Amino acid sequence: MEDLSPALGKLRAALSPEQERVILKNLMKQKLKFPEGFLWGASTSSYQIEGGIDNNDWAISKKVPRAGKACDSYNRYREDFSMAKYLHHNAHRMSVEWARIEPKKGQFNEDALHRYHEMLQYLKDQGLKTFLTLHHFTNPIWFAEQGGWKNKRAVEDFADYTAKVTQSLGHLVDFWITVNEPKMYAGMAFAQGIWPPFEKGIISPKRVYDLMLEAHNEAYDVIHSYYPQAQVGFSQNIAWSEAEHKDIIDRLAIKFADWLSYLALDKTRYDFIGLNHYMYYRVHLAFNLRKYLHIGRGDKLTERGWAIHPDALYLVLMKLKGYQKPIYITENGIADSTDRYREQYIRDYLLAVHRAIGDGADVRGYLHWSLLDNFEWEDGYKWKFGLIKVDFKTLARTIRESAYSYSHICQDNALTV
Ligand code: BGC
Repeated sequence: MEDLSPALGKLRAALSPEQERVILKNLMKQKLKFPEGFLWGASTSSYQIEGGIDNNDWAISKKVPRAGKACDSYNRYREDFSMAKYLHHNAHRMSVEWARIEPKKGQFNEDALHRYHEMLQYLKDQGLKTFLTLHHFTNPIWFAEQGGWKNKRAVEDFADYTAKVTQSLGHLVDFWITVNEPKMYAGMAFAQGIWPPFEKGIISPKRVYDLMLEAHNEAYDVIHSYYPQAQVGFSQNIAWSEAEHKDIIDRLAIKFADWLSYLALDKTRYDFIGLNHYMYYRVHLAFNLRKYLHIGRGDKLTERGWAIHPDALYLVLMKLKGYQKPIYITENGIADSTDRYREQYIRDYLLAVHRAIGDGADVRGYLHWSLLDNFEWEDGYKWKFGLIKVDFKTLARTIRESAYSYSHICQDNALTV
């Protein structure tokens, strides 16, 4: 074989140390492949993007901002889904608005169902797999007025609504998410009193949580009665928490938080686990309860003040592995108006996912939060989570740089490191 050393020597002499470093780095790059058929995409929810919803419990409340016209995605969904397709997403998670579909108890709005049919059909026509959420934090007014999720009737009402949606749209749904983050909802609406109906209870949060899980179980059976092969689950927000000190109180606090998170998986029927992951905490119980959570010290924080700690996702996935069900990451993302950190955030969290898969976690998809900048609940339009930027005056959409970098990963089904 020809001796290449002299030629290589000449080449090196012509390069600056920096150029040599870049070339070596590129030569050493490797592609971390994800399992075949892995689902890639983004998540959205109806009230956060659709616009024009004026008959749910959020829209009529004076204590929280209103979504108003939001991104007008109810009308511009073709543009939005075409961008998802263009960005090489092969799956998308959206939700339907209960208040649109059932504006009065027992009365279903066929026009709304027709529109959702068009949306799902459009996704299917683009070749995307569909995840459909039935409840993403908002409720019809009639439902809220009869006591909402505190009233046992909620379970039956949710089952009736689920049956109607399944009959009308079921053939277009690949994955069902019955309820989004029941624990978060119960906490924000019934313990902290930040979301409608603004209650600060001690007993009712657990009751609400339990009723939502019961409603999920009923909905699970309803969907399966129409489509025995359906894939049905719910999305749970699971953080990773560590004790700040090794004392018993902090450790007990974590045990309690974990118990609440994983309890749902022991109490329910599900075909897959939907994981929403954003948070990492160091827990320290102090007398001033407001200060009991220390956000990861030493970690970078997002604009929203959430710690960036990709290892937390790895650790949650390793814990979920024990439940022996497929896992789909149904939300993970960063508030980043500058788009300076999103690309690295996605890469680092996906590296954690890849490592967890290598260590046996059956993760089958990743849906980034979110496709678009959107209405972020009690904070209105303050946080920018979108792969696509939305100008809320003109409603013009602009694809962010990070969305292109994520798009390469989706297209390659691999992360190049
Ligand atoms: C919720 C989304 C929300 C996101 C970011 C998640 O817990 O499901 O609706 O936009 O957090 O705040």
